[in-house]
Amino acid sequence: MTASPTDDSTTAGSTSPAPPMIVMKNVQKHFGDLHVLRDIDLEVPAGQVVVVLGPSGSGKSTLCRTINRLEPVDSGVIEVEGRALPDEGRDLARLRADVGMVFQSFNLFAHKTILENVTLAPMKVRKKSKADANARALELLDRVGIASQKDKYPAQLSGGQQQRVAIARSLAMDPKIMLFDEPTSALDPEMVNEVLDVMVSLAKEGMTMLVVTHEMGFARKAADRVIFMADGAIVEDSDPESFFSQPESERARDFLGKILGH
Ligand SMILES: Nc1ncnc2c1ncn2[C@@H]1O[C@H](COP(=O)(O)OP(=O)(O)OP(=O)(O)O)[C@@H](O)[C@H]1O
Ligand SMILES: [Mg+2]
Repeated sequence: MTASPTDDSTTAGSTSPAPPMIVMKNVQKHFGDLHVLRDIDLEVPAGQVVVVLGPSGSGKSTLCRTINRLEPVDSGVIEVEGRALPDEGRDLARLRADVGMVFQSFNLFAHKTILENVTLAPMKVRKKSKADANARALELLDRVGIASQKDKYPAQLSGGQQQRVAIARSLAMDPKIMLFDEPTSALDPEMVNEVLDVMVSLAKEGMTMLVVTHEMGFARKAADRVIFMADGAIVEDSDPESFFSQPESERARDFLGKILGH
């Protein structure tokens, strides 16, 4: 018998609608004197793809990191699928497994093969058998277009290929949410699209995604919503079309002028 990742699912309260996938209420965060997240309120329904934009230092990475509790917050509420973020222990490990994160640097295990990189956590955290983990990993590697590289080591792959392995590795945990923090910004330009294509297909399949990226093509093609941050606050929150054609704030106009103008 295989354990289903949804076997704790939401039969309780079945008369009410499903809770949003992510809720942030009045979230505050400081690094010393620096107020990095100011009164963040955000609700992301299941299946929504949110692109987070904003100048360097505006708090985009910190926002992502608070959602799987890589960064604790000072005050406020963060919930994933209606449950407050656990502080520690097994519940926290479980939350992290449900919230996948892909960073700019791929952070693959250098001394493990591509296949091992993808099967490790499902076996350890999800307690999958090696056979099940291997089968699922091969499916995912195939899906991101690198099944033929499965026995190589990360250093033998291009940056774009490594980032696709990192995405497959996250997906192997059957996450409910995927957070992406500038996943293509360390890549050579010719490799950006192969990674964005994988992300676009994930978005189309209904994954709930929060994506920090300056790739406007992705935002226009795949985002349901754009959030613009400045100085730790959400300054604009709208659909991509309105945001790009008529940003409301001076900050956003200035920012768009810079990134679209180069
Ligand atoms: N661990 C930390 N300790 C102290 N200050 C930090 C820490 N992490 C981030 N900061 C500061 O918090 C602010 C927000 O940082 P964050 O990384 O969230 O910005 P960002 O919008 O992701 O920027 P970038 O576009 O450059 O990645 C910055 O001023 C940064 O210097
Ligand atoms: Mg950042």
